Amino acid sequence: MTIRPRRSALYMPASNARAIEKARSLECDVVILDLEDAVAPEQKAAARAQAVAAGGFGHREWVIRANGLDTEWGADDLAAITGAGCDAVLIPKVSDPATLHAAREKLGPGPALWAMIETAQAIVDLRAIGEAAAETGLTAFVVGPNDLAKELRLRPGVDRAPLLPILSQIVTVARAYRIVPLDGVMNAFDDEAAIEAECRQGLAFGFDGKTLIHPNQIAPANRVFAPSDDEVAWAQTIVAAFDAPENVGKGAIKVEGKMVELLHRDDARRTLALAAAIRR
Ligand code: COA
Ligand code: MG
Repeated sequence: MTIRPRRSALYMPASNARAIEKARSLECDVVILDLEDAVAPEQKAAARAQAVAAGGFGHREWVIRANGLDTEWGADDLAAITGAGCDAVLIPKVSDPATLHAAREKLGPGPALWAMIETAQAIVDLRAIGEAAAETGLTAFVVGPNDLAKELRLRPGVDRAPLLPILSQIVTVARAYRIVPLDGVMNAFDDEAAIEAECRQGLAFGFDGKTLIHPNQIAPANRVFAPSDDEVAWAQTIVAAFDAPENVGKGAIKVEGKMVELLHRDDARRTLALAAAIRR
């Protein structure tokens, strides 16, 4: 089982050379060089040139967020990204499968597509977007809470209650179509307890990791989205129990006073594979 950890995905404006250099030694699993919201119009061309030449992030996954194809920069972004060698291109404001097909056509084979889910229309048509994943090489959904709140006129607050039904829909469709769901950013970056709490909420809702805006947020996200020592030990116990001679061929067994089924062994194997990938 191969698993790529995506506990922490750090955005930075691709116009910010200092942030890009810093990212090469930060402990995030994913680096997202942004050409869209975090870059002012007059800096778009310079940011694009810097993003496609960046490379060299070691074990970190290298993602570039392009401008939308409906903007004056989108086509030039994708043309430049084609030869960059990045792992994925994050497409903003994906609201229909046509957007994914258009991006794939411009990029040719090569980087995976990741989709920002951040519009009302995307939520309405989420299933159609998910169905286009295999054909277009779409591998991740990234929640865009700031744009969602703006467009839906939500006022999420600290517990994010108004966003929760939407987060559930995004995770559900992602799982149905084998897409990796990544939770949205938290704008307040000076409050470690708050980011940790929001990561725990994202984990509970089924996300694989969280998108981040500041290096301060990396350690809490890595901690929360990694299997804990207790979870690893329990997973080892389950796998070993099913391997025991007396349990061969059984679908449900008793382990430490609890019923454990084969589905729990599958989950335990995933936990162990993720823990091993993180150690590597
Ligand atoms: N990636 C890499 N490095 C970052 C970073 C990021 N997202 N955010 C801050 N840093 C670096 C700074 O360069 C600084 O490094 P230095 O001490 O070597 O100069 C250090 O971390 C501390 O930064 P700090 O002073 O606390 O923050 P700031 O005022 O420089 O930046 C923001 C604050 C919000 C402007 C910045 O964090 C940022 O640009 N975040 C990403 C925004 C983004 O990409 N948004 C789009 C997606 S929502
Ligand atoms: Mg946005």
